[in-house]
Amino acid sequence: IRHLREAGDLDAADATLILDTARELARLTGGREVKKLPTLRGRTVVNLFYEDSTRTRISFEAAAKRLSADVINFSAKGSSVSKGESLKDTALTLQAMGADAVVIRHGASGAPHRLANWVDGSVVNAGDGTHEHPTQALLDAFTMRERLGRLAGLNVTIVGDVLHSRVARSNVVLLATLGAKVTVVGPPTLIPPDIASAAVSYDLDAVLPASDVVMMLRVQTERMNASYFPSAREYSRRYGMDGARMRRLPEHAIVMHPGPMNRGMEISPEVADSPRSTIVEQVANGVSVRMAVLYLLLGGK
Ligand code: CP
Repeated sequence: IRHLREAGDLDAADATLILDTARELARLTGGREVKKLPTLRGRTVVNLFYEDSTRTRISFEAAAKRLSADVINFSAKGSSVSKGESLKDTALTLQAMGADAVVIRHGASGAPHRLANWVDGSVVNAGDGTHEHPTQALLDAFTMRERLGRLAGLNVTIVGDVLHSRVARSNVVLLATLGAKVTVVGPPTLIPPDIASAAVSYDLDAVLPASDVVMMLRVQTERMNASYFPSAREYSRRYGMDGARMRRLPEHAIVMHPGPMNRGMEISPEVADSPRSTIVEQVANGVSVRMAVLYLLLGGK
């Protein structure tokens, strides 16, 4: 494949190759002293971020540097975007600078698809509006496989603000491709009507005992009309993961969150900091998975 615009760009063989390559790259570069590999020496990766990010931006930068690529970080804040420059003209500028890959985060759903028409290099979606965040789904799948040994047949419960979640959308598609069974749970106002290949429940307590993985989502109040949302206390009571709910999970089950978290709203500090939580592992795994994506897209040697 040339681009990673959405989870549907990957079939099961592509996705498994990325996860296996990430594992091998983690083995080669991990440990206490992080080693660099020369595989993308002379190649240029541009991080084009129109929306804020901590984890994704930093881990794409770390991933590209660990493969010895040159990295250009572009943030819309402080650039000519504030003077009205369009995405197309920004893309053509990057093209003129010889970008081999452009990693884009944008508030508009579909921006990576548009970008792919204007640049010769590979385009990687780092989150577009409420549409998709495919490398997050890959690092989540990697984390599940590392912790639980498999993906096929796992019961994965995705909880909360599914409506605004690009993470949920990519996970539903990728996990179906890899043979996991997904149930989305949340208040009816925060479950999209068109969610394909996932079961829907409005009762978190009913699905916990059969869940191998529970993925909590951030409540995205910044994308929300107040009428969608009951109240923080009511939401937390019905859909928050606290210690009592965690203890109703099977012994082997893990609790995930893509970050950033609203501690005390969708997840309690007791759960976020517990041994069942994979939140910090997800961040570490994100570097290996993004290395694998860049390596495979750019034909690293
Ligand atoms: N999970 C995630 O996308 O986090 P950032 O917004 O910090 O990149």
